[in-house]
Amino acid sequence: MSVKCPLSATSSHIPTPIMKIDVQTTKPLEFPTPCLILPIWQDEELAGVLSELNAKTDDLIVELNADGFKGKVGETRTLYTKSQIAAPRVVLVGLGKKEKFVAQSLRIAAAKAARATREMKRNEVAFLAPTSSLGKEETAAAIVEGVLLGLHSFDEFKTDDETKNRTKIESLTLLVEDDAKSAKRGAARGQLLAEASMRARYWVNVPSNIKSPQYLALQAQEIARENNLRCEVWDENKIQSEKMGALFGVGRGSDNPPRFIILEYCSAGQESAAPLILVGKGMTYDTGGYSLKPSTGMEDMKDDMGGAAVVLATMEAVGKQKPNRRIIGLIPSAENMVNGQAQRPGDIVTARNGKTIEVLNTDAEGRLILADALSYACELKPTAIVDFATLTGAISVALGTEAAGLFANDDAIADKVTAAGEKSGDRVWRFPMWDDYKEHIKSFNADIKNMGRERRAGSIAAAIFLQHFVQDEIPWAHIDIAAVAYTREMQPLTAKGATGFGVRLALEFLQD
Ligand code: BES
Ligand code: MN
Ligand code: ZN
Repeated sequence: MSVKCPLSATSSHIPTPIMKIDVQTTKPLEFPTPCLILPIWQDEELAGVLSELNAKTDDLIVELNADGFKGKVGETRTLYTKSQIAAPRVVLVGLGKKEKFVAQSLRIAAAKAARATREMKRNEVAFLAPTSSLGKEETAAAIVEGVLLGLHSFDEFKTDDETKNRTKIESLTLLVEDDAKSAKRGAARGQLLAEASMRARYWVNVPSNIKSPQYLALQAQEIARENNLRCEVWDENKIQSEKMGALFGVGRGSDNPPRFIILEYCSAGQESAAPLILVGKGMTYDTGGYSLKPSTGMEDMKDDMGGAAVVLATMEAVGKQKPNRRIIGLIPSAENMVNGQAQRPGDIVTARNGKTIEVLNTDAEGRLILADALSYACELKPTAIVDFATLTGAISVALGTEAAGLFANDDAIADKVTAAGEKSGDRVWRFPMWDDYKEHIKSFNADIKNMGRERRAGSIAAAIFLQHFVQDEIPWAHIDIAAVAYTREMQPLTAKGATGFGVRLALEFLQD
């Protein structure tokens, strides 16, 4: 069956909010720009550029402080400088307290400042890089990430010109004291990270009347073509003949048949190296199946391929970075719907590794499609497996939207993922996977069942289920992004909608 694909989502098509990013070593107050962004610490004496500006503007900053401007993270105020300096307006943006400062403070500050300039409809801005405990490269990267991600919005289906042009900033100039080289490297990395995140956001935001498993497969093939990756797509027949009974079962209820997508990046000479494998849950829509979800909020279930979006965007970025290694991305993709062939509660399916699963709840479908993908991943004898999945509503009860859930069979990989999370801003928190939990998913009629106990450790039970499909000796990390892939409220780095959570974490994880 052919699937309509009205939207071309090639990398050249994806709109980016900034056209040109530049680095300059000049005196900030002498730099001609319509809008100068100056970061400011909370609870610190004015120093350097800020005290100079304050002196030139007759104590404007001191007055702002008196009026309650503290310089908390992301707090902004605009000053009109009446040609006392080269820039006619300055946006002051808080970095918070020095002792609490981390890269994420700067990303948030940069995002908020950029949004303030957008409101003034200024399309050229200069941003003074603050001196802090962060390295110069990291500083530049954080600013560029913050500005790009903060300005991003999903306008694909808006038809009025005002909205369509809203996010365009012509140029961003980073002003640094010295070492423009490090700043340039950092800016380029920040741009790569932000653009990859925006790619993931795009796929998640696209509605499910457009994105089917076949759509994701076409995107993967396009990414492969443009970046010289190997791509293989299995259709529903191949999925069945390859014994992926769990993925096949989930896909049965939809007119959009399931796909299994394999993307491989391999630098010259690494062909026989053991690969690192990324796996992403690719449910292009999740109605729950016959265990139907309530209709309120069901619209958010277009985000159920958030893990797949992480894998696609990461593989694409890897293809551009060309590291010296072998990395494979796997995406099991299906649409959880109801029809005369759909899976029923009570059905028993056999996964690729031979284990039988009693499907007690057709809405616990993510773990089913991942079961086959993880089994297949293990056959490739990887050095490690990391999966991203919008897997459980329970993870949002446990952690809110402040972090994703991390589950791992190995402390070293858990520590690495945690560190990458801290550094990238995609924070994760580890849960236990004690063997005692295995009881929760024992099945009466089959080896295991796809549901744990009602309202008991739902996210852990799901992870324990996945562990049945991973060989013990292979380091594996599972990241449950159900609560963080999509936001219904505006966040510092994200407008309403897809967040791209996981992309920057994955790319940070792959750095070493
Ligand atoms: N895709 C959902 C999980 C989800 C919930 C993602 C909210 C994003 C936001 C998953 O397939 C699901 O339905 N999980 C069930 C499992 C349960 C039936 C054992 C859940 O969490 O309710
Ligand atoms: Mn579900
Ligand atoms: Zn789901």
